[in-house]
Amino acid sequence: MMELDLNLLQQLGYIFSAILFIYGLKMLSNESTAARGNVVSSIGMLFAVLVTVIEIVNPVLVLSAVLLGALIGSAFALKVKMTSIPEMVALFNGFGGLSSFFLAWSEFNNLSAISLIMVLSFMTVLIGGITFSGSVVAFFKLSEILKGNNNFLNKASRWFLIFSFLFVIIAVIQVIAGGLGYEFIDLALIQKIFIALLIISLFAGLAFVLPIGGGDMPVVISLLNSFSGIAAASAGVLLTNTALIVAGCLVGASGLVLTLIMAKSMNRTLYNIFFVGYESSGSSAAEIDGEIKPISAEDAYLVVEAARSALIVPGYGMAVAQAQHVVKELGDLLEENGCEVSYGIHPVAGRMPGHMNVLLAEANVSYDNLLEPKDINPTMETVDIAIVIGANDVVNPSATEEPGSPIYGMPILEVHRAKTVMVLKRSMASGFAGVQNPLFFKENSRMLFGDAKESISKLVAEFKD
Ligand code: TAP
Repeated sequence: MMELDLNLLQQLGYIFSAILFIYGLKMLSNESTAARGNVVSSIGMLFAVLVTVIEIVNPVLVLSAVLLGALIGSAFALKVKMTSIPEMVALFNGFGGLSSFFLAWSEFNNLSAISLIMVLSFMTVLIGGITFSGSVVAFFKLSEILKGNNNFLNKASRWFLIFSFLFVIIAVIQVIAGGLGYEFIDLALIQKIFIALLIISLFAGLAFVLPIGGGDMPVVISLLNSFSGIAAASAGVLLTNTALIVAGCLVGASGLVLTLIMAKSMNRTLYNIFFVGYESSGSSAAEIDGEIKPISAEDAYLVVEAARSALIVPGYGMAVAQAQHVVKELGDLLEENGCEVSYGIHPVAGRMPGHMNVLLAEANVSYDNLLEPKDINPTMETVDIAIVIGANDVVNPSATEEPGSPIYGMPILEVHRAKTVMVLKRSMASGFAGVQNPLFFKENSRMLFGDAKESISKLVAEFKD
């Protein structure tokens, strides 16, 4: 009787957790409720852990591990810089995959006869392993520790993926044949295949992410996020744990939706991102016509002061410089000066989805002033001045003008079509995709070199004077 009650309590607890997960996820779709959505989903997860623990023989051990994990996670999250959040997300995805990998491994070891449930262990180990090692590569690529592209390695990776795919199909056929009672397949053979699969899945993650170009990393991160959810859901089926299945499905599905949205906003198909990659590199500075025209803050002020319409385009450099508050101050001063101000937000500007929106919201910039490329590009010719603040790839005209460029096809904010463009950055260094930007060499471009926060502060000071 007691056992039945506990089970009922647990199932009710899981339903309550699932409601909190879904409600929290819904809140994430709106900037004003997103932070609270995160808290609601976290409470759902804490609840799911607590109701799972009630049937565990040694709850103290499990709760100690939960506490230790929470402490390490919180320490990381509190210490991490805003600009390094994507790297942290990549690692968290990876650890999610790794825990599903170990869960499936341990469940497999409990099986004493060949059964179809083994296919599920195979799949969980495969997806979990790929998620873990793929996320580690993504972490190194995002931290820019792993740079460049090696054609030989890319080709070898693709062949390895084909080999892994065939191995998995053969492994599954062996389990099914064993399950159907074919005597030439015994448990010892399946166990050896499983060990090989553990290793192959880890190498497949490396082979999957290594050839993918830097510009496509946002899409890869969200796909790995989706994979970590699918691995968790599959581990949930192995353990018959409802909360894990629900949470895994939600992460898997929302990660997949985000992946498709990101790929669409970069005008890339998933096939191109994952299996074609970038075969060539863009122009070098030496091949670009035109010359750089540096401008001082004092002269920049005169140009900005005369403008009647301004488009502010923030990018990763604004996040590095933490310039969002002075950017807002400059925007306000421009408006007071009779200039119409809007902000051009590219979906992959910065290093994580919504990066610029979050920073500008922190500085109290109204959402009504934020425009996407499709909203602003058609009227770009009417913009007196486009002020590009630490953005590079998202305003690179090679994406529209140079077939064969690593970023060709990605929709950009076409600021080169504005009457004047002023680019604020520290040097001629390229952006995340590692390609030179012909925008800096255009006739209507001026370069205001220096840290974005310092440069804008100088402009603000000029206005105030
Ligand atoms: P980037 O192309 O990465 O360019 C940023 C520019 O900011 C750099 O060229 C850098 O030039 C400048 N910068 C850095 N620190 C600065 C500072 N303190 N002051 C002034 N300028 C500074 O950025 P973007 O245009 O935002 O494009 C984003 C790129 O990241 C895309 O390629 C995208 O695919 C990729 N990515 C995006 C995401 C998501 S989801 N948003 C995730 C991963 C990768 P200097 O060094 O010369 O100053």
